[in-house]
Amino acid sequence: MTALWPGRGGPAIDYISAPPREGLADVRPRRVVLLGSTGSIGRNALSVVEASAGRLVVAGLACARRVEALAAQALRHRPPVLAVLDEEAAEALRRHLPADYAPEILVGRPGYARLAALAGACAVLSAQSGAAGLAATLAAALAGKMVCLANKESLVLAGALVRAICAGTGAAVLPVDSEHDALFQCLAGRGQEARTLVLTASGGPFRGRKAGELAAVRPADALAHPNWRMGAKISIDSATLMNKGLELIEAVHLYGVAPERVRILVHPQSVIHSLVEFADGSLMAQLGVADMRLPIGHCLDWPVCAPRGAAPLDLAAVGSLTFEEPDAEAFPCLRLAREALLADRAVGAGTPGFGPACVALNAANEAAVELFLNGGCGFTDIPALVSATLDALPELAGQADLGPLAPDSLPAAPLDEARAARLALELAARVDALDAACRALVRRRAAHPEEPKC
Ligand SMILES: NC(=O)c1ccc[n+]([C@@H]2O[C@H](COP(=O)([O-])OP(=O)(O)OC[C@H]3O[C@@H](n4cnc5c(N)ncnc54)[C@H](OP(=O)(O)O)[C@@H]3O)[C@@H](O)[C@H]2O)c1
Repeated sequence: MTALWPGRGGPAIDYISAPPREGLADVRPRRVVLLGSTGSIGRNALSVVEASAGRLVVAGLACARRVEALAAQALRHRPPVLAVLDEEAAEALRRHLPADYAPEILVGRPGYARLAALAGACAVLSAQSGAAGLAATLAAALAGKMVCLANKESLVLAGALVRAICAGTGAAVLPVDSEHDALFQCLAGRGQEARTLVLTASGGPFRGRKAGELAAVRPADALAHPNWRMGAKISIDSATLMNKGLELIEAVHLYGVAPERVRILVHPQSVIHSLVEFADGSLMAQLGVADMRLPIGHCLDWPVCAPRGAAPLDLAAVGSLTFEEPDAEAFPCLRLAREALLADRAVGAGTPGFGPACVALNAANEAAVELFLNGGCGFTDIPALVSATLDALPELAGQADLGPLAPDSLPAAPLDEARAARLALELAARVDALDAACRALVRRRAAHPEEPKC
């Protein structure tokens, strides 16, 4: 299995976790928990399970409030445990289930965490949207699972802690994000020869437009991604290029590389999912159709390569592949993400990890995207609000009473379970406090743009 892993502890690549320990990846059928099962990733994951010829079995499902959809999924797979956001959703879910099927229904963040740690489950798909996904990722890592990570925010908010927990519990992380999954495949067995990681970006629906042309775009235009069908939040992030900014931070944490070693390249066809440049200057790319069942299948079913229901890629039909630099002026989110990463790194003794700037970047962006989707601000206000929040960070961190939890405060030796659990709780509380302060600032600034900066 090590031969299929990107490389650990070396000078070029220091992947976030070791491969799954013996007795974890080789047990079949593999019991999987799908958090966020009603979302775009979750539905694709269920389709992967259904095409797996019995290698994968659903042990638990979770959504927020779309309980009718969850009930339909649960009825097909009959897992013993489900989880939803609150008691009201739990009640509604019970009404949708027949008398002969009475799974345990868990509720809220503690419920998601219990489901993520479910005894007997081997792999956990973390596919809840946004910062809300962090608690379940940490719980799955603490429980030593194979963590199939779609929720990139988990690494943006707590990458160093996830790494430290994996070292202690033997949890293994597999990246579902198509770009990071592509890097994982290109690096297999060759990590220490890698020089640069190249994340490809489609450029989103507004590629080629200039800054001045973007002010008037509407949510429906921004949601219309040219190549991928995804949830609303990530679709808007793709249009602003913040998605690529979050992916840059994700790559730094996953592969243990400096931000300067991650390059972003716009590739409008989304055929090459990412590339690695090796020490001799040669490039290795991973190609495929734009179908999330491929990276999801690669992670949930790892290391098995099997049909996932996606059509093979026909390169002759694609014709040509093109590449260009991202337009940093029209899409400033990419620069903001890089700056946040560097600001946190300056605080964190050279090791990127939990840092207030990345937490603020993510919180401000989530709040601004929500406002944009509900008509509360314009498209170009999104980077402006994120930038204003980053500028106000010293005051906000003070308001949120945010003591430093710098990455260098994490011990170099593996964390024991009790210490890891305590650190996870402490970090979640700090993230929550700063997150709330940033969201409040964004809402205030959007409502009163004329207000002086705090
Ligand atoms: N879509 C993609 O192609 C793609 C690709 C790479 C990475 N990702 C990442 O994967 C994650 C999910 O993306 P998505 O596109 O699948 O999102 P989505 O379609 O919006 O689905 C989100 C899922 O999370 C649940 N959820 C929402 N808010 C929640 C909360 N507060 N607590 C617990 N569960 C909550 C939703 O439940 P309800 O249905 O009940 O609301 C739904 O099951 C994101 O982190 C995204 O960045 C997505």
